[in-house]
This record gives sequence, structure tokens and C-alpha cells, in this order.
Amino acid sequence: MGLIPKESMLSVENLEVVYNDVVLVLRGISLEVPNGSVVALLGANGAGKTTTLRAITGLLDIHDGEITKGRISWNGSEISHLDPAHRVKRGISQVMESRRIFAELSVDENLTAGGYIRKGNGKIRDRVFELFPRLEERRKSIAGYLSGGEQQMLAIGRAMMSEPKLLILDEPSLGLAPMLVQEVRDIITDINDAGTSVLLIEQNATMALSIADYGYIMETGKLVMDGKPEKLLADDDVREFYLGLGGGEDGGRRSFRDVKHYKRRKRWLS
Ligand SMILES: Nc1ncnc2c1ncn2[C@@H]1O[C@H](COP(=O)(O)OP(=O)(O)OP(=O)(O)O)[C@@H](O)[C@H]1O
Ligand SMILES: [Mg+2]
Repeated sequence: MGLIPKESMLSVENLEVVYNDVVLVLRGISLEVPNGSVVALLGANGAGKTTTLRAITGLLDIHDGEITKGRISWNGSEISHLDPAHRVKRGISQVMESRRIFAELSVDENLTAGGYIRKGNGKIRDRVFELFPRLEERRKSIAGYLSGGEQQMLAIGRAMMSEPKLLILDEPSLGLAPMLVQEVRDIITDINDAGTSVLLIEQNATMALSIADYGYIMETGKLVMDGKPEKLLADDDVREFYLGLGGGEDGGRRSFRDVKHYKRRKRWLS
């Protein structure tokens, strides 16, 4: 599917994942993140986006999941069997779904937790505060009392403390007001400009495709389309199902909740 860039940093090939020994959730996913790029992974609820992330970061075990086929390579060498901490050491860092932070710890302590694998993380912390001045102002605050937007910034800041070469974000815009979505988007662009590659998992296709170099769309464990943002944005199905711009019968915008119901039509799979 699609063109496969040669200088890929992360390469996922024909990945199959099963939960609880029986439920086949990923059914042959292949994707590439070239060095220096922003790649978007789009899909509706339950498509398998988070499962893909867990496979890449090594967190399937704790969810009773297992890779049954395929491989994940990092700069040419297979990492599928490395434990999560070693993948972080190699430069893969993640911001989990629903901005998991340590609510009872301070902003500073959260950042320390994110930087435990790097020594002398004072300089890195300064860089994180450059990205997020508001976090510096609130560095002694208990993280649980931060606003939703600030918590998302903290979750991203914490992931940056390990100085990743690849940052994977799982739906960072979820539940944020439009202005904050813009802010998160700008932060991701800044992070990428500073040299970190990004795999951006989103349901907000408009946001993700506005900054991505390449995009993949997945549905029920399979990729159904991939390409440059211009191509995806011009596609009628993408416009209808992921951007709510179907130009459809009523001409109205569809919400992503509606998109969920349309999934059953399996238009992509026919
Ligand atoms: N630990 C688990 N055990 C069994 N099934 C699971 C587990 N985690 C996820 N699944 C199932 O795997 C499928 C894919 O889930 P996944 O969380 O990867 O989707 P997603 O694309 O991230 O969805 P969302 O947008 O809602 O976060 C779903 O059908 C889900 O119910
Ligand atoms: Mg998810």
C-alpha cells in the first residue's frame, strides 16, 4: 500500500495483534514514519489506533495483547520483543490517551518521572519550559488541579523529557476546546521543527492532516487508505466520514459520533 520511503525510522510491517488469545484486533497493519516527518494515523472509535501504539511502545503485555504476526523495526532493527523502557531509551516516547499524568504529583515531579532515563535532565527541563511557559509558572502546582489543556501540555512535556526521536501522541486534541486544539497543533509543529518525528493518532482529521506529511486511515484493524494530506483531503469518502464535509444530502456537518455509526457500512472494505 502506498509508497514506502526508504529512510524510515519506524517501520511497522503486516502487524497482527490479538487480545486475550482470541480477539484479532489488528489484521495486517503496515506503516512507515520517515525520519523528521509528521505522520497521521486516523480512524474512528475502535479501529485499533491505540492498539497500534501499544504494539510500538511495548505495552500490549499489560493489556493481555500479543503480536501474532508481522514486525516492528526501528532504524532497521527489530524491536518487537524489547521491553517498554528499552524502547524509550532508543528514542520512542508516547503521550497516552486521555492525558495520563500523575494527578497527585506536582508539575515538576511529573517531568522528573518522564526524564528518569536521561541523566542531567535540567537542560531538557528548560527546553520543555520553553515549549510550555505556562508549565513553568505552575511547576509547583499539583498536576490534578491543572486545567484540561494544561494537563495535556504536561503530558506532552513529560514525554519530551526523555528526548525522543519519535513522539507518538494518542488523540491529543480529544476533549479540548478549539483554541487549545490549535495550541496543541502548534506545539506539535514546534516539536517536529526541532527535529523530533511525530506519529499523530487522531480522530480530528482536519487538525492532523493540516500538519502531517503523510496520513493513514484505519478501520476495524485494517488500513483502508493512505497518502499525502492533499490526496486524503480531496477524497470523497474521507471528506464524508472523517471531515464531516460530505456535501451530502442535507449539506450539514456530520459529527464524529455519526461517523461511528457509518462504520458499519464497511464502505472502505468492499
Ligand atoms: N485490553 C483489551 N482486551 C480486549 N479487547 C481490547 C482491549 N483493548 C482494546 N480492545 C479492542 O480492540 C479494538 C481496538 O481498540 P483500540 O483501543 O485500539 O481502538 P482505537 O482506534 O484506539 O479507538 P478509540 O478511538 O476509541 O480510542 C476494539 O474493538 C477494542 O474493544
Ligand atoms: Mg484509542
